[in-house]
Amino acid sequence: MLNIVVLVSGGGTNLQALIDAKEQGKIAGGSISCVISSKPDAYALTRAKQHGIPTVVLPRKEYPDHRAYSLALLEELRAQKADLIVLAGFMIILDEAVAKAYPNRIINVHPALIPSFCGAGYYGLHVHEAVLKSGVKVTGATVHFVNEVCDGGPIILQKPVYVKPNDTPETLQKRVMEEAEWQILPQAVALFCAGKIKVQGQIATIEEDLL
Ligand code: GAR
Repeated sequence: MLNIVVLVSGGGTNLQALIDAKEQGKIAGGSISCVISSKPDAYALTRAKQHGIPTVVLPRKEYPDHRAYSLALLEELRAQKADLIVLAGFMIILDEAVAKAYPNRIINVHPALIPSFCGAGYYGLHVHEAVLKSGVKVTGATVHFVNEVCDGGPIILQKPVYVKPNDTPETLQKRVMEEAEWQILPQAVALFCAGKIKVQGQIATIEEDLL
């Protein structure tokens, strides 16, 4: 059974989707062994506790810079014996030391179709604001491995979501979560835990037709 450590900063609806999938028997090869939050008041921590999952708070503001924070996080991940790390609404860009320590073992969910609307500054509602401002008619979500490039690692799964004429950033965010993120994140984690994802360079391939 793989140890899945989930990193959060906020409401934790993606964490909830993972907990639900696990409890429904959809993630056979792994269990959520710990939730680490960058914010002490993140509601995601309450969700973890409600399901008996151990939690750790690592407040970003207690560290002088990204590097110091990343090294502290790395130490915690090692102490937790993490096999897979999931960034589920984790709002901190990590130093490359973390990605290098866990190559193709860190999964991130991003609320747009990478390579559009991604990279530094594109997080949370800002992504959906940019989508609406651009006039595109289709957006969606992406689950990918994390490498040294922000939102640049191999793509595992994507799911499209139509933009509606009356969408606000909030309505679009809700639909992207419901129709895409909460489905493809648990699916990708299950595939990883089953050893079904192969990566060659930038290309991730799903071994069997499980989609
Ligand atoms: C989600 O939409 C997630 O994709 C996004 O933040 C939200 C967190 O919600 N992540 C990013 O923008 C990271 N670049 P949650 O805390 O309810 O899961």
